[in-house]
Amino acid sequence: MALQREDRNLDAAAGLIAVDHEVQGRLFDALVEAVLKKRRVGLCRGLLRDIEEHARSHFQTEAALMRDHGYPRTAEHVRQHEALLARLSEARAGSLDGPVTLTADEVQAIRDAFEAHVRDLDRDLGAFLRDVSPAPAGAGAPGPAPGPER
Ligand SMILES: [Fe+2]
Ligand SMILES: [Fe+2]
Repeated sequence: MALQREDRNLDAAAGLIAVDHEVQGRLFDALVEAVLKKRRVGLCRGLLRDIEEHARSHFQTEAALMRDHGYPRTAEHVRQHEALLARLSEARAGSLDGPVTLTADEVQAIRDAFEAHVRDLDRDLGAFLRDVSPAPAGAGAPGPAPGPER
């Protein structure tokens, strides 16, 4: 039973990571649009804050998975998370006072860095987690004892 529970936990974690990546993409979509259409400064600042907070939380989820499963590229992966957060913090710092001077191209460049991370290190982490995930219960093992006959 423990193996089944572990398997479900990894499935749930993989699903959560995929949803997080989707949300991240939508937040960047909204920020690019807000910057292009010169929306209110407060909206742009709020989206920058949301993207940073979401990324921070998401990176904590991935770090916990890496730690719990002994992922061999943890240090490299965490360093890249820190670099991505630093880029977001820098972008936010330049927009805290006065007008938001961030351009759509600058937002897109940050987004490209996040998406490259997903394609490279997150994909590698996902493959590792699939490899360490136990085989489905019952695979190659005898099935459960039959129930009482009626
Ligand atoms: Fe990551
Ligand atoms: Fe990720």
